[in-house]
Amino acid sequence: MTGLPWDASYHDGPAPWDVGRPQPAVVRAAAGSGFAGAVLDVGCGTGENALHLAALGLPVLGVDVAETALAIARETAGERGIEVEFATADALRLESLGRSFGTVLDCGMFHTLDAGERPGYVASLASVTEHDGTLYVLCFSDEGPGTGPHPVSRDELKAAFTPGAGWNVAAIEPDRILTRFHDDGAPAWFATINRI
Ligand SMILES: C[S@@+](CC[C@H](N)C(=O)[O-])C[C@H]1O[C@@H](n2cnc3c(N)ncnc32)[C@H](O)[C@@H]1O
Repeated sequence: MTGLPWDASYHDGPAPWDVGRPQPAVVRAAAGSGFAGAVLDVGCGTGENALHLAALGLPVLGVDVAETALAIARETAGERGIEVEFATADALRLESLGRSFGTVLDCGMFHTLDAGERPGYVASLASVTEHDGTLYVLCFSDEGPGTGPHPVSRDELKAAFTPGAGWNVAAIEPDRILTRFHDDGAPAWFATINRI
């Protein structure tokens, strides 16, 4: 899980998940005032979700290990005149940022991790999320036809984000993730998780 393999996905045109616009689930949550305070977009890729949130006036930091994705994100921000911050950081070591956030977004990051990596990631998220802050996880779900790669079950989400690890799962709703290979998106979960 070092930067290089992920960076390579951005070298030859858009990656499968790089749809050039924010995910509808994120747009909807933002429209419902679901994002508050400083926002962290973990595994932000080329930054379309971060850019959408920043364009709404929220202070947003997007982090990723893929330098090429971050360069594209910064370029897009410049072209659109959007004030937003993008930085290189490992999602498994977010405490090294030395910052905390009222809302954290994981769009397509959790489902890339294997079961052994999840506890460390969940602790890393906890280290930067303010108490009473909100984490949104949009990930491929294991329900319905046309599931994406590495689908996640509801139970896996609940098992990862426990009160013992500092989280309360408020909701896990069926949703869609747009990809370049699904006409109407792939089955997804949109989880709202509160930091205790
Ligand atoms: C499926 S893509 C989703 C990208 C973006 N959130 C989007 O919706 O377009 C997963 C992203 O997580 C990033 N990533 C994977 N492992 C990471 C890690 N350990 N730390 C930070 N970013 C990571 C990848 O580089 C990639 O950009």
